[in-house]
Amino acid sequence: MNIQEIIYTAKALIANDKGLLAMDESNPTCNKRFAALGIPQTEEFRRSYRELIVTTPGLAESISGAILYDETIRQHLKDGKSFIKALTDKEIIPGIKVDAGAKDMAGHLGEKITEGLDGLRNRLQEYAQMGLRFAKWRAVIAIGDNIPSHGSIEANAHALARYAALCQEAGLVPIVEPEVLMDGDHTIEQCFEITEEVLRTVFNQLYAQRVTLEGMILKPNMVLPGLNCTKQESVDDIADITVECLLRAVPAAIPGIVFLSGGQSPELASARLNAMNVRFKSRLPWALAFSFSRAIQYPALEIWHGEEANVEEAQQALYHRARCNRAARRGEYNAWIEREQE
Ligand code: G3H
Repeated sequence: MNIQEIIYTAKALIANDKGLLAMDESNPTCNKRFAALGIPQTEEFRRSYRELIVTTPGLAESISGAILYDETIRQHLKDGKSFIKALTDKEIIPGIKVDAGAKDMAGHLGEKITEGLDGLRNRLQEYAQMGLRFAKWRAVIAIGDNIPSHGSIEANAHALARYAALCQEAGLVPIVEPEVLMDGDHTIEQCFEITEEVLRTVFNQLYAQRVTLEGMILKPNMVLPGLNCTKQESVDDIADITVECLLRAVPAAIPGIVFLSGGQSPELASARLNAMNVRFKSRLPWALAFSFSRAIQYPALEIWHGEEANVEEAQQALYHRARCNRAARRGEYNAWIEREQE
C-alpha cells in the first residue's frame, strides 16, 4: 500500500467541484430498471447503455469518477476500447462496486447484511491490476417497527470497515456507503437519530480496523423524512438537519462526503445538495459532493428506452444532470440552470 497515492486519489475524486457517477447496478438491479421501461434485459443492452453513458460528450466537466460493475469492466465499446480505458482517456477515474449485495440477516427479521468479504483480497488485487483506483461497498439500514437493531448496525459497520482496510491494503480508495433507506413513514427526526448512530458506529469500526481516514470517502444518505411520512421538510430544513447530523458524527480528517440519491427526484437531490453548499460550504471540514445513480441516470435511461436513435438525446439529458449537480456543489444550482436544457 502506498498511502500517499491513495490520499491523492481520494482528493482527486472530490476536486474541482466535480462528483461521482454511480453506474454500478448489479445485473438484477439493472435488469429490473430495464424491465420497467420494456428494454430487453440482455448483456448486450446493458453494455450499450453503459457505452451511452461513458461516451457522453463533456461528461468529465462534472464527473471525476465513475463506479462500474464487474460485468462492465470486462466489456468493450463498439470501437474495441475497454470501458476502463475509455474513462481514463477522458480523465474520469474508474472505480468498482465490490460488495456482493445485501442479504437477509439471520436472526434479524426485516434487516439485511451486506456480503462479499470472502475472497475480497484477491478480487481487489485483480481490480487494482486492471487499473481501477477506488471501490464501493453499500450497507443498507431500514427504519421500521423495532428496527434497525444494534446487531445489524454493528455487523454492517464491521463489514464496511473490514472492506475499507482491504481496499487500502490493495491501493484502492474505499467509498464507504452506509445507506439509511427512505422507505417508510418515519419522521426526519427518526432518520437523524438512526443516521447519527450508524455513522458513529461505522467510524468506530473504521478506527478499530486501522483505516486511514484521509484515504477514504463517505457515501451517506441525506437526512430525510420517510417517503410516506406526512410531514416533508423544506429543502433548507433538510440541508440544515443533514449537515448538523454529519458534523456530529463524521471526523474532519476525511476529505469528502458524496451523497447517494436514494430515490429522491433528480431535481430535489440537486436542490438539497445545493442548499447545503450555499448555507455551509465555507464552514465545513469536508467537501459535500454527489455520487448519484438514479438522480443522474434516470432521465437519460427513460429517453434512451433501448433505442439507438435516442442515444444523442439521452446523452444530453445525462450531461445536463451531471452539470446541475456540479452547480449544486458550488452552490450555484437554480431554476434557470435546471431549465437550460429545454
Ligand atoms: O449504491 C447505490 C448507488 O451507488 C447510489 O444509487 O443514487 O440511486 O441511491 P442512488
